[in-house]
Amino acid sequence: MKTDQSLVESAPSISTDDAQAMFNKHLATYRKIVGENLMFHHEVYGLLHNLLSQEMLKPFKFLDVACGDAVASAAALKGSAIDHYYGIDLSLQSLELAREALKSLLCPVDLRCCDFVEAMADWSDSVDVVWIGMSLHHLQSEGKVRLMKNVHDTLTRSGLFLIWEPTLLEGENRAEWLDRFSTYRIVCAAITDEEFAAMEAHMRLADFPESADTRKAMGRQAGFSHAEQIFLMPNRFGRVFQFWN
Ligand SMILES: C[S@@+](CC[C@H](N)C(=O)[O-])C[C@H]1O[C@@H](n2cnc3c(N)ncnc32)[C@H](O)[C@@H]1O
Repeated sequence: MKTDQSLVESAPSISTDDAQAMFNKHLATYRKIVGENLMFHHEVYGLLHNLLSQEMLKPFKFLDVACGDAVASAAALKGSAIDHYYGIDLSLQSLELAREALKSLLCPVDLRCCDFVEAMADWSDSVDVVWIGMSLHHLQSEGKVRLMKNVHDTLTRSGLFLIWEPTLLEGENRAEWLDRFSTYRIVCAAITDEEFAAMEAHMRLADFPESADTRKAMGRQAGFSHAEQIFLMPNRFGRVFQFWN
């Protein structure tokens, strides 16, 4: 695992990973989607901001797993008591943007260009809040639980784990969730047919949503005593969950 200034020299050979290469290629599309608030980043990261401002009154360490360009995280953390930011992402291009966005934070910023599964398996610094925005769903069920266990072991006793993830409606399966997403094309007027098709292709290749009940059960399996849904996206494609002890 490499950090900070060594980012450029240490980029992993992501061209071997189809899903990641596809994501990098469409980073500009993702930023457009976020800019148009098509995924409700405004509401989700507004909720994160309120939660951190109200519940984390003492200095805290924040780990952003799959941070991407961290623009929304930087805004959510502004004015909070954060005293150390850690960000992990496989995309060097995103981390370079993150470095700029996080300049607004008045604390050390530690960016690591690596696979979050590997990073969390040997994470040694204890943290107070772990946030995963739209990224855990790339793993299969067993991998999700293992990752959540590693998060649990990384957190301080009063720590918080928050995830924002694609979520199935009750009784819905993955294929139905993906088909439901196809009908969202009409709302995404700001992006081209080609961009929407690329996003769908990425989702069909790499997205494995879970139901809310499964998600909460996974949290308990990972060692958390409490699991609660705290937000439902207005388009009902995803939810935010909070886990704690
Ligand atoms: C949909 S974006 C989410 C970005 C941001 N968290 C958000 O809420 O908008 C997914 C991010 O996960 C990263 N990613 C996907 N798989 C990864 C992995 N195995 N290890 C590290 N980063 C990964 C991608 O590079 C991308 O930046």
